Amino acid sequence: MRGGIFVSALGDSAKRAEELKNLINYHNHRYHVLDSPEISDAEYDEFVNELISIEAAYPELITPDSPTQRIGGEPSDTFKSVRHRSRMLSLANAFSLGELTTFFNRISNDLGTEQIEMVCELKVDGVAVSLVFEHGIYVVGATRGDGEIGEDITANVKTIQSLPLRLFLETAPNILEVRGEAYLSKEQFKQINEEREELGQPLFANPRNAAAGSLRQLDPKIVSKRNLDMFIYGLGSVSGTEFVSHWESLQYLKTAGLKVSKYSGKVNSVQEAYAYCEYWQEKRHSLPFEIDGVVIKVNSYEQQEKLGTTSKAPRWAIAYKFPAEQRTTVLLDIELNVGRTGALTPTAILEPVVIAGSTVSRATLHNEDEIRRKDIRIGDTVIVQKAGDIIPEIITPVLSKRTGNEREFEMPTACPACGGDIVRPVGEAVARCVNINCPAVVFEHVIHFAGRSAMDIDGLGESVAHQLLDKGMIKDVADIYYLSKEQLLGIEHFADKAAENLCSAIEVSKTRPLSRLLFALGIRHVGAHVAELLADRFGSIDRLVAAPYEEITAVPEIGPRIAESIINFFREERNRRVIERLRQAGVSMEQEKMETKDLGFDGMSFVFTGTLTLFTRSDAEAIVKSKGGRASSSISKKTDYVVVGKNPGSKYDKAVSLGIKIIMEDEFKRLIGE
Ligand code: IVH
Repeated sequence: MRGGIFVSALGDSAKRAEELKNLINYHNHRYHVLDSPEISDAEYDEFVNELISIEAAYPELITPDSPTQRIGGEPSDTFKSVRHRSRMLSLANAFSLGELTTFFNRISNDLGTEQIEMVCELKVDGVAVSLVFEHGIYVVGATRGDGEIGEDITANVKTIQSLPLRLFLETAPNILEVRGEAYLSKEQFKQINEEREELGQPLFANPRNAAAGSLRQLDPKIVSKRNLDMFIYGLGSVSGTEFVSHWESLQYLKTAGLKVSKYSGKVNSVQEAYAYCEYWQEKRHSLPFEIDGVVIKVNSYEQQEKLGTTSKAPRWAIAYKFPAEQRTTVLLDIELNVGRTGALTPTAILEPVVIAGSTVSRATLHNEDEIRRKDIRIGDTVIVQKAGDIIPEIITPVLSKRTGNEREFEMPTACPACGGDIVRPVGEAVARCVNINCPAVVFEHVIHFAGRSAMDIDGLGESVAHQLLDKGMIKDVADIYYLSKEQLLGIEHFADKAAENLCSAIEVSKTRPLSRLLFALGIRHVGAHVAELLADRFGSIDRLVAAPYEEITAVPEIGPRIAESIINFFREERNRRVIERLRQAGVSMEQEKMETKDLGFDGMSFVFTGTLTLFTRSDAEAIVKSKGGRASSSISKKTDYVVVGKNPGSKYDKAVSLGIKIIMEDEFKRLIGE
């Protein structure tokens, strides 16, 4: 009898889970593919939360194509190899409209007609990916590799929200292999580089490199944060379904729920194809993603077959590559910028020139070796290009324009800002000023320390920092807390009110949480996130200073590189002195604890997984801490609650397997008494 009731409860839940999956897939498609949502985010989340709770109660109902399984799996060590079902070809290029004409002449000659229908598509600048759906379910995602064998990036591709994990087809083919381009929007690319800059990591030169780098991450959780997207532009191998043209197959793929570019179009003549190319060459900057050309494909499969393929590329398609937006200008000088870590970055000072819609007057030269390799000399006429139309770079000097008056760049042996020694360790590309009191380094440090995501001292911007340092009012960040209002009145254009405001902003900043202080100190490799992990784990700066290497590396996500950097930082006498003087000035060095009477989560441990919609992750964690609990990033047997948001990751599975209490966001809200 009991078994019967159980089976029917499971049956009902299975039915509802199926319904929810369909609903979620439908609305996900409306949002991410059609860009026309029908319901609010909160309503969407309700469906997801309901599905999550059913799956939590009946883990046997979790299927790989469930929308809750987008970010799953543990990080892997390598990518497996996958053999493509049909070869992934490349495209022949045309670099001018003249070369396009040659292509058209050849195909009309081979086909014996000038009546050739063609499809024009945008050539999105990303990474080619092959996908396999078995009976409509997404099973494999792979890179191109050598065209025959690629790398298995199934889990990474799964994080792409516009990809349906189950096709919208009544009768799906047994096997459907499709091809497309995974890419990052310009906006997303910018954001990734901003984050990398903050962490002192090298920047991606263009969205394609960033997309390739993201797809090659071994941890799908990191990939999911990159918000990759993907256009599907063609078929690989298909079983049981016949199409007569490329256009027809694109319509089929669109109906199946895949994201097919809305910018593709059919053309009937060479003139129309030219017009498409010229239009997008002109308008490319208005698109939210980067394109580097147009792909033109013969539409009819019969004609495609007649034309055939070479060993590398089809003879029925061509990529018209836009001319890269390059200009020549004069390299007036090479300036050295001293960063917060003392790193010296050579920057080209250029005679201003307009490229891809904006004026360029500076370009990074990366490092000394790069300047030598390109043989760039001061006074050279140089070709400048905007890589991915975003970061300007010097491609090459124009040797024919050399007059003999050009000057080779010499890396100075003394820092241009302080005259201190410049050291370039053997095997490293970066030269650094090693004077810890270098004013340029101190300036960058002060700006970082007072910045919004650090101690957030309102009113302490670049101009004020310059003056404080120039007038000798501060020599390091601790001095900020010993400034008097009278001293501040010595700052240019600083009246009574401004000085008072800065004084109180400095005062307020003393109470910032420990994580902000740790970030503000500018320890190499300690970004905002790592600072939070450290603050959570150690609770006070003294405990962190005293922590041995093993204890630091035991913190999830913190590896040897970060741990070494932390230890070296605190070993430095000067840094210890700064911390002591910050302490004496009253800067909080402990994790802020709320008053005991308001606790409630005393000693309890919470883990959040998935995208929260009612709170930001940091707010939710702060609430837990304010109630005496601990927010941790990894699950163990000691975890009390796992709070799940949208698209939870493998932590959810782990919580299920360890039998830890799983709650939705709204339950969490009730728990905190809201
Ligand atoms: S068709 C056999 N269509 O360009 C046809 N490729 O330079 C092969 N690409 O490897 C590709 N947008 O990564 C095609 N609409 C589009 C494309 C496209 C971007 C990329 C693709 C390919 C590369 C060839």
